[in-house]
Amino acid sequence: TLEADERNERIVQAKAELGNDVVILGHNYQRQEIIEHADFIGDSYQLSKQAANAEAKYVVFGGVTFMAESADIITEDDQTVILPSMEASCPMAGMAEALQVDSAWSEITAETDADIIPITYMNSYADLKAFCAEQGGLVCTSSNAHKAFEWAFDRGDKVLFLPDKHLGENTAYRLGMEDQTVEWDPWDPASKDASKAVENDIILWDGYCQVHERFEVKHIEAIRAHNPDVNVIVHPECPREVVEAADKSGSTAEICRTIEAASPGDSWAIGTEVHLTHHLQRWHPDVNVLPLCGDACMDCNAMRQIDPNYLTWVLEELVAGRERNVIEVAPQEKELAQVALNRMLEI
Ligand code: 13P
Ligand code: SF4
Repeated sequence: TLEADERNERIVQAKAELGNDVVILGHNYQRQEIIEHADFIGDSYQLSKQAANAEAKYVVFGGVTFMAESADIITEDDQTVILPSMEASCPMAGMAEALQVDSAWSEITAETDADIIPITYMNSYADLKAFCAEQGGLVCTSSNAHKAFEWAFDRGDKVLFLPDKHLGENTAYRLGMEDQTVEWDPWDPASKDASKAVENDIILWDGYCQVHERFEVKHIEAIRAHNPDVNVIVHPECPREVVEAADKSGSTAEICRTIEAASPGDSWAIGTEVHLTHHLQRWHPDVNVLPLCGDACMDCNAMRQIDPNYLTWVLEELVAGRERNVIEVAPQEKELAQVALNRMLEI
């Protein structure tokens, strides 16, 4: 482990030596020591667009595995995507495995002649994205889920949404389809009644984010009790009742835009991963930015795995001509997953 000053110098030095050969992307939830070296900072949709436009030979991704996989799918074959830690895996993405979804799909489609379109949240692995493409579906992020649903209902009768039930439910509300949802819990035989599921237009896979699921309405009530003028914005991975109690909800990019547009002296409580709240406090010192639930618990362990020492290591290894922690999607999955991602980029 290096001292911060030495580490920063080494990162700056390695980046300078690599020049235009490297671009560093940083998700909004990355810690400050990563964000300060990122060439682009954004939400998962913005970063997927940055990856698509990147010309650098190496894309070093400050984010989690599914984001780096998506970057590998979108970038050219002669570009290499590097994730500073292979341990940075989003637990939600692991909640819908392609094989498991495939077997649920067979059960559900056997019960109906209706056209079902699968939509997977970006927070999923490439094999599931490929599965969705194969079945006529697409990928979405939290900033375009409603558009993906509209796209699907233009082409089919029903949607299977994976893996985040909360984003799915919040999107159903946004589209006025809240009474048309049903949950599908792949681990609970009692909830897996395909004939009942197909009576609804939106089937929600029972996945969730361990960070956002911990926000509760009582956190909003408590912060309002102490700060009567506070506005509350939360991420749509939060449960429905939390989104409903908040003043606003949106992707991490939407949360950033909201604070950018705030007037000096305004107060905003943020219901999302706490590193973004801290960045917003630093970037907008004239706005009173508060973590909705204190600092203690709303920290994403997967994002935290990207340690600045690992960033130093992968960059210095590139300078030495060695590619470490390369994220490479298998060619057969890559082609199909790209179809699902392109459908999203086109809407
Ligand atoms: P965004 O797409 O809003 O950046 O969110 C990604 C994520 O992992 C939220 O938990
Ligand atoms: Fe996954 Fe939640 Fe972390 Fe986002 S905050 S990367 S959804 S675990």
